[in-house]
Amino acid sequence: MPQTSHRTAVFTESLIREMSRVATRYGAINLAQGFPDWDPPAVLVQAAKDAMDAGRHQYAVTWGAPELRTALGAKLTRFMGVPVEADRELVVTCGATEAMMVAMMTVCDPGDKVGLFSPFYENYNADAILTGAQAVHVPLHPPHYRFDPAELRRAFASGLKAFVLCNPSNPCGRVFTREELLQIAALAEEFDVWVLTDEVYEHIVFDGRNHVYFSTLPGMARRTLMCSSLSKTFSITGWRLGYVHAAPDVIAQARKVHDFLTVGAAAPLQHAVVTALNFPASYYDELAGEYAASREVLLSYLDRTGLSYTRPEGAYFVMLDISSLGYANDVEFAHWMTREIGVAPVPGSSFFPHPEHRYVRLNFAKKPATLHAAGARLLKLRDYVR
Ligand SMILES: Cc1ncc(COP(=O)(O)O)c(C=O)c1O
Repeated sequence: MPQTSHRTAVFTESLIREMSRVATRYGAINLAQGFPDWDPPAVLVQAAKDAMDAGRHQYAVTWGAPELRTALGAKLTRFMGVPVEADRELVVTCGATEAMMVAMMTVCDPGDKVGLFSPFYENYNADAILTGAQAVHVPLHPPHYRFDPAELRRAFASGLKAFVLCNPSNPCGRVFTREELLQIAALAEEFDVWVLTDEVYEHIVFDGRNHVYFSTLPGMARRTLMCSSLSKTFSITGWRLGYVHAAPDVIAQARKVHDFLTVGAAAPLQHAVVTALNFPASYYDELAGEYAASREVLLSYLDRTGLSYTRPEGAYFVMLDISSLGYANDVEFAHWMTREIGVAPVPGSSFFPHPEHRYVRLNFAKKPATLHAAGARLLKLRDYVR
């Protein structure tokens, strides 16, 4: 028999999805995979039904239904404070997952180097492998997950073609400051590097912080491919709607990559989500407020376990330091915790390029009742602290 590809043979199964299955096996509360356990706004669900009834069953325009791009362009213009041209600067994708794949394939050739911070969202490594690019990791140093400017500079100087920036950041919860983003922008300019941003948590930031859209920084619009999604903002992770926003000449090429990868996202849902893009500003304030409240619920229990963690500034994840629990291996610990404590985490090693067994990740995209139930179970961890 011929061999399957070397490229994909090195893939490991996603530990996040695996932990969801382990959670089901032990009847544990799943704080591993990050998705809300509530329904999207009722008007949005109704809009999806209406789109079906209106016969939106065939392919939409490959780069996104015009109504959707118009609404998205208007929403981006509103939040980014710069005009976004729906017809020339957007391509609608199957989630930010496809958006990042499209972005990377649009700017990278096999053999190119792609920089990324670690801990990283696990898809980026896979995206690099599928593109044939080589990942260059730059550490964010715990507990505050800040980068060392000298280390970042070394990575850029090593000949990067692109740098992936996840902000707000999964898994560590960092919201990079304008000053940090300006440092990244200056390096991108100096070393002539593309910046592929993942801004899916743009509306989930806490404590009065502001999300700074990277492409709005001076000079960055022409070298940024912004990937984002409607999954998190409207609690529709299963609808698979995302997009790339970039300069017209870049988007012209990205559209071809997207066309050959997936043709397009589900047509009726593209039409339905226009309703959500017209929600008033108060929707976004409430979303951030609800996630801030959920964060407090989970952290209030973690505070009582005696374990240390880094307070998330944005997104809906928390990295918990398990080093005082006496486990040498975070994967074994995650299985033990799921079985014995009844709460499933993600082993932290899935976010690092090197063996790193000190952390697990929990998410708080859950109803308060779910988080209280999980929190009550997490208190049992106190008995195991050494
Ligand atoms: C940082 C980040 N990017 C992208 C995604 C995937 O987004 P989408 O559902 O739009 O594909 C996730 C989902 O957890 C994420 O955390």
